[in-house]
Amino acid sequence: MTRPVTVVFGGTGFVGAQLIRELVESGRPTRLVARRPEWPAWVEEGDPLTLFTADIRDADQITEALAGADAVVNATSLYVASRQVSFEDMHVTAAAELARQAHQAGIERFVQLSGIGTRLDSRSAYVRARARGESAVLDAMPKATIVRPSVIFGPDDAFLANLTALTRLPVIPLFGRGTQRLQPVHVVDVARAIVTLTARHRPRRYFFELGGADALDYREVLQLIMHHLGRQRPMVPIPFAVWHAVALGLGILPAPPLTRDQVILMQGDNRVTEGVGTFEDLGIRPRALRDSLPDCLPHPR
Ligand SMILES: NC(=O)c1ccc[n+]([C@@H]2O[C@H](COP(=O)([O-])OP(=O)(O)OC[C@H]3O[C@@H](n4cnc5c(N)ncnc54)[C@H](OP(=O)(O)O)[C@@H]3O)[C@@H](O)[C@H]2O)c1
Repeated sequence: MTRPVTVVFGGTGFVGAQLIRELVESGRPTRLVARRPEWPAWVEEGDPLTLFTADIRDADQITEALAGADAVVNATSLYVASRQVSFEDMHVTAAAELARQAHQAGIERFVQLSGIGTRLDSRSAYVRARARGESAVLDAMPKATIVRPSVIFGPDDAFLANLTALTRLPVIPLFGRGTQRLQPVHVVDVARAIVTLTARHRPRRYFFELGGADALDYREVLQLIMHHLGRQRPMVPIPFAVWHAVALGLGILPAPPLTRDQVILMQGDNRVTEGVGTFEDLGIRPRALRDSLPDCLPHPR
């Protein structure tokens, strides 16, 4: 008899790729779905992994991708909207269609990845779309699990790579005064949480926020990185109005290195709130950024 599969939309992404690895290592039959799926470098013959090509915006392709599934994860992303694809298309319409079809197919385990700070009344179009997406997924599948991580780090991530690049400048420009609180979370811990949340005997909670062991100011994160790399640079507060102007200017690029939505996100804290499901409910002790830097950053010179 064929065992049911766990289907991961976005299985080649930063989070999705780690999740695929954790699922396969735990022996779960797994289907990696993306528009351009690729075999992970670590895969070995006999591993319970299959690839599937599908666009989450295509309802028929979703139907095919879900065949034989008993658990589904939406780990797709869209950080910069374009003329071809809007935040609404990806984060609301496509996410809801995936949840609707999963529900219709009798699949009970569904994880929608979102992010801490998601709010309907945000000034950011991205964040508002994420919030509408969460609601649309829950309308389609009331027992879907929403997982909101804080900023995620790991080897070869964008977060630490961008901050490391900043520490090469003679002076580091801060977002505002750099006092916003972050709770950076390791990608392996996020992946393990989702493995638990899609397991047959999962906890009876449906809303999680995932943060690492340390809550740190943005400037403390930069200091940790500089300390690790053996660098010392002055940090200069830059008003958010300036950052908004910079992001506006960069907006003409096809892949801007900074967007207005990211600036808005940097204006608030990004840490786990009260009354939500956390790593503790999953029996996972998350790592701290400071302990993980040696595994995630180049060795200091
Ligand atoms: N990275 C973070 O720090 C962070 C923090 C908090 C929350 N999150 C959330 O975690 C989720 C995953 O983020 P990520 O950073 O891992 O994303 P990512 O690295 O950008 O990966 C996105 C994945 O989605 C796939 N994808 C994109 N468009 C698709 C489409 N139309 N149809 C099917 N697949 C598509 C991509 O493959 P193809 O391009 O080949 O299709 C890729 O596998 C997102 O919901 C994000 O908001 C991330």
